[in-house]
Amino acid sequence: MKSIYITTPIYYINDKPHIGHAYTTIAGDILARYHRMIGNSVTYVTGTDENSQKNLEAAQKAGVADMMTYLDSMSALWQDTWKKLDISHDDFIRTTQDRHHTAVAKFWGLVKEKGDIYKGNYEGWYCVGCEAFYLESDLVEGNCPTHKKPAQKIVEENYFFRLTAYRDALLAHIEAHPDFVQPVSRRNEIINYIKDNMIDVSISRVNASVGIPVPDDADHKIYVWFDALINYLSVVGFGSDEKKFNENWPAHLHLVGKDILKFHCALWPAMLLSAGLELPAHVFAHGHFTIDGEKMSKSLGNVVNPVEVMEKYGNDALRFHVMREIRFGEDGDFSLTRLEQRYVSELSNELGNLMYRVLSMSEKYCDGKIPAAGSIVIPLDTGAYMAAFEKFELHQALDVVWNTVRACNKLIDDYKPWELAKTDSFKVREVMYALLDALARVAHTLSPFCPVTAEKILVQLGLSLEEVAATPFEERIAANKLPEGTALMKGDVLFPRLS
Ligand code: MSP
Repeated sequence: MKSIYITTPIYYINDKPHIGHAYTTIAGDILARYHRMIGNSVTYVTGTDENSQKNLEAAQKAGVADMMTYLDSMSALWQDTWKKLDISHDDFIRTTQDRHHTAVAKFWGLVKEKGDIYKGNYEGWYCVGCEAFYLESDLVEGNCPTHKKPAQKIVEENYFFRLTAYRDALLAHIEAHPDFVQPVSRRNEIINYIKDNMIDVSISRVNASVGIPVPDDADHKIYVWFDALINYLSVVGFGSDEKKFNENWPAHLHLVGKDILKFHCALWPAMLLSAGLELPAHVFAHGHFTIDGEKMSKSLGNVVNPVEVMEKYGNDALRFHVMREIRFGEDGDFSLTRLEQRYVSELSNELGNLMYRVLSMSEKYCDGKIPAAGSIVIPLDTGAYMAAFEKFELHQALDVVWNTVRACNKLIDDYKPWELAKTDSFKVREVMYALLDALARVAHTLSPFCPVTAEKILVQLGLSLEEVAATPFEERIAANKLPEGTALMKGDVLFPRLS
């Protein structure tokens, strides 16, 4: 049993979650559920990044005078969203919590003791949208290149982190651990950045109205990214529960979007090296969504609310669609039209009808019970499935499952049980066993992606969910394990017609 600690970014709460945030959180949830299923001990966490100027501006815009009142209500809204999307996180960190402040103070102390924090003059540009510093040469006509809004000129005495002292160590680590930064395209991007563009970073702001105060110098507040990254330590007990911390750290995976790659693959590992802590095993940066081909934005009015999608199509359809639509790691487009098409063609026709037909035929040809196993086995390539998960190729793992769904449909087409039943009642039962058995393996391997559907299939196959949970994964996915004579429990169709 391995200890697997997986994180999502902690999200800014200047607005409600959109489909992009849900994508990362769903992907992390799929990985967490997979690792729990194969018997690993999993800690999956997400949270909210609260000490940010962006949140303050949003509170002011919303007319909420007390910042904490605003943060409490927004953080609750995010937590409620993950509950509705059935995200199985084990903890939720808020950077306004005491446990985080304790961890940040301890971390700052370690880095300071190492001699990596110094005072210097910062003269440059800051974009609140990005919460990031820019060189004048980065700006486009004075505007932030991402938000296209004027950057703020800052001239002040700040604390700096000696990031450049870690240039060689970072490059050596990335070289020695080819799977630290994934996918490969991102690895090259970060190597170039570290080699050519990385400079020491200002890690405090003078007289800022939000932020964690610098220990021993309350005139300064800690730069939000330096504070936020430490959440990955505080949520597993750094500075407050050393036993828990040692059980979880180093993390197995930081899952992020490609927009925040630099913070996670340059600044963060350098901070950890400075503090004398181990580096996470993997950082995986996935791509970004557009919506019907356009960038998602409030002004275009195309921001997709994941809760509305869930309410209309169900969580499983949402999870299934995003994982099937986009090779995990690449950019992609989200379209409700495509989701509906896939719902009908794949979920409803290929899987839902398959299940319904197999159970109906089993009623007719096998008295509604699981018949005896025969010599036909529909393969499910579990080796490829598990290898795909190890490489974070989530779309590939799902493809393995779907190949078996398609093989089931093909077997029906090939044998035509309704004809076979007329001539060979023994053979037809063998065909039905092969289908029922394959559907059980489909349900197990589909469960990280579509947990609700997987449970429905298992229940309809007459299996007890408690018994399944107590069975080791290797046994669950072995062929010919369905107990003969078990009564099938034909239920509702898996994917009802869309209204
Ligand atoms: N607060 C920082 C993260 C700190 S982690 C120590 C932050 N927050 S954020 O609210 O802006 O969330 C950014 C993340 O949301 C991206 O890295 C990505 O995971 C997800 N996405 C936001 N927009 C997205 C798309 N359009 N498409 C896919 N994912 C997107 O950055």
